[in-house]
Amino acid sequence: MIVLGSNSEISQAFVEKMLDEGGKYATVYLFTSNRETTLKFAKHLDVKFLQQTEIVELDLLGDVDYARFDHISSDLVFCAAGYLGESTEEALFNPKNTAKIIDVNYAKLVPVLNFFAEKLERQRQGTMIVLSSVAGERGRQSNFIYGSAKAGLTAYLSGLRNYMFSRNVHILTVKPGFMDTKMTEGLPLNPKLTASPVQAADAIYKAYKRKKNVAYVLPVWAVIMLVIRNIPEFIFKKMKL
Ligand SMILES: NC(=O)c1ccc[n+]([C@@H]2O[C@H](COP(=O)([O-])OP(=O)(O)OC[C@H]3O[C@@H](n4cnc5c(N)ncnc54)[C@H](OP(=O)(O)O)[C@@H]3O)[C@@H](O)[C@H]2O)c1
Repeated sequence: MIVLGSNSEISQAFVEKMLDEGGKYATVYLFTSNRETTLKFAKHLDVKFLQQTEIVELDLLGDVDYARFDHISSDLVFCAAGYLGESTEEALFNPKNTAKIIDVNYAKLVPVLNFFAEKLERQRQGTMIVLSSVAGERGRQSNFIYGSAKAGLTAYLSGLRNYMFSRNVHILTVKPGFMDTKMTEGLPLNPKLTASPVQAADAIYKAYKRKKNVAYVLPVWAVIMLVIRNIPEFIFKKMKL
């Protein structure tokens, strides 16, 4: 299994779920921009599951040397890499913050996903699971840069799914709503609309097994987004969302 964004609690819960369910992997490749923290998770997998891992350093904000990944392939690629960024009024217009959000969620991430997609295509089998966001469904004032990057990511995954269908490769787009993780630490989230990493891992596992194309983590978000997508623009632009 290949994991991009290994320090995400959702990644870690999903890897554990796969192993708990009896998944067998010669090696779990843990891609990370933070080797030290990932080492703890790798040790945990070794102790709990006797699972062999390889930590692969990947900082999406640096130059990516693809030659280092040539030896890595798997029929399951899971990606939870992402960056929310700050959404204060000043940060929303700050060019550095803007570029970082676009790079981590889309511009620098998609080439890496595409690199592994090509490997899946050559194998003529496998699954790529990528965490996008409900934020990509309609731009909102609170996070319009993040939302636009996730919209790009969702569109990429939709096109990739269409391309891969005849090549026996499945692409699963996951659209979490609010998640209780380090990304949203300190944010005032409605607990009824917020999922834990374990809930997310369970929902993603089910969607993977059912070969779903798009999955929300909590079903209520499908309803919320249906309403939000259908609000006429002349009303939507006046709303504080
Ligand atoms: N939390 C939410 O409410 C929420 C809602 C909707 C969608 N999502 C999406 O769900 C996914 C997982 O989110 P999360 O809540 O688990 O967030 P998180 O804890 O911040 O995890 C995101 C991971 O992305 C990786 N990453 C960040 N910057 C990177 C960089 N420069 N280079 C390489 N990797 C980088 C990091 O992994 P390493 O430290 O291992 O590099 C980080 O742990 C993200 O795509 C996020 O956008 C989250």
